[in-house]
Amino acid sequence: MTDRHHTTSHEIERYAGLFAKRTHQMRSSAMRDLMAITARPEVISLAGGLPDTSTFPPDSFAALMGQIARDSCAGALQYGPTEGFEETKQVIVEVMAEEGMRADPDGMIVTTGGQQVIDLVAKTLIDPGDVVICEAPTYPGAVPVFSSYEAAVVQIEMDSDGMRIDLLEETLAQLERDKRRPKFIYTVPTFQNPAGVTLSEPRRRRLVQIAREKELLVLEDNPYGLLRYEGEPLPPLFALDGGEYVLYLGTFSKILSPGIRLGWLVAPDPVLAKVNLGKQAADLCTSSLTQEFVNAYFKQERWRGYIKSLSGIYRERRDVMLDALAEFFPPEAEWTRPGGGLFIWATLPEFIDTGDLLAKAIREEQVAFVPGAAAYVDGRGGSSMRLNFSGADSDSIREGVKRIGKVVREQIALYGTFTGRPADQDQDRPKRDRPSGETTDGMAEVVRLPERARERRAQ
Ligand SMILES: Cc1ncc(COP(=O)(O)O)c(C=O)c1O
Repeated sequence: MTDRHHTTSHEIERYAGLFAKRTHQMRSSAMRDLMAITARPEVISLAGGLPDTSTFPPDSFAALMGQIARDSCAGALQYGPTEGFEETKQVIVEVMAEEGMRADPDGMIVTTGGQQVIDLVAKTLIDPGDVVICEAPTYPGAVPVFSSYEAAVVQIEMDSDGMRIDLLEETLAQLERDKRRPKFIYTVPTFQNPAGVTLSEPRRRRLVQIAREKELLVLEDNPYGLLRYEGEPLPPLFALDGGEYVLYLGTFSKILSPGIRLGWLVAPDPVLAKVNLGKQAADLCTSSLTQEFVNAYFKQERWRGYIKSLSGIYRERRDVMLDALAEFFPPEAEWTRPGGGLFIWATLPEFIDTGDLLAKAIREEQVAFVPGAAAYVDGRGGSSMRLNFSGADSDSIREGVKRIGKVVREQIALYGTFTGRPADQDQDRPKRDRPSGETTDGMAEVVRLPERARERRAQ
């Protein structure tokens, strides 16, 4: 037996001949790789998308589990229906109503996390080479799903109002000329992971209209809609469309717990029937135990209060991170200012590769983030990073940003030494500070530096 972590090339070859073709396309989610490193206690991780589950009172957890043991032990330990328990679906109807959506319990399936929805929808709709459209950058966890089904992924640039619908329309027109019909548009319209931006209402309305006109499916992924720290809620795409072309993905992961692995899909009946078959093949049913947990928890009617308390905590941490970025990141950097959710997207000068920077940050400063390339299928995003502000406390966030800022400044100084000029005078580099509306190639140029950070620097 060899050490499992040190497989030799000979050993890899022994199995590789048996692998299916699709495995050549499979990519590891950068986040999964990072999990192992960031689990080390000395590392400050701003990498994961972890909600702070330490905020859930252990006494409540014990009481709920005790109640399940008393009232529904046999059921909780048993298989359940593939589509999920009726009571859990009623809970989902209630959660969706909170964001102004009317869902039919018969039109949904309870899944093993929202991640399974992405997998099952791709499994249902994608043949190798089929086009999926998504945002640039997109949710890093969706990238390995699309690649494992051998999708041709087309990413549409965003700005501070979310996906550029004008560019989407151009892309759709081009695909039509090429006689390629996209199978679906995958979008995280509210407090996007990883960019933290939100699709504006006019763009939402236009997207739904396009879906209708062209009979395109849209998969709306909405884990963060209820985690709003300022401003007024916008209507989800599902609410605007009524569920005809918009498939809706929800999850309990960020409003309650990712450990319970509970998400859901609301979709038209024909799609749902196929997804149900796909789920039977994948795992038969979602955990009965954790559905019982959700049922018991929501009966207590405390969930709105819990989300409110989470939002208060995360708002404060977001502000700590924004302040720390303004203080510790160099003037060449820029970042988004999310009104909710868990992430800030920061972009550095183009000569910095955040993959290399991460290795240095972990090695020398014991701090981690997600490198931007994980959110693209084509190697873009190399000078960006995703920073999470929910999983660490305020002191760690400040310290973590300070440490990342240090390695970034070192890289910039090094670049200056090699080229003999400061980074911000580099003529080869496209200027980031453009007037709004000017079209450019990369997210970095499109999502603009928040005004607050500019003001701080001016002070
Ligand atoms: C946009 C998005 N979709 C889906 C997921 C998957 O969540 P889960 O499977 O825990 O519901 C996440 C998790 O971070 C996410 O950010």
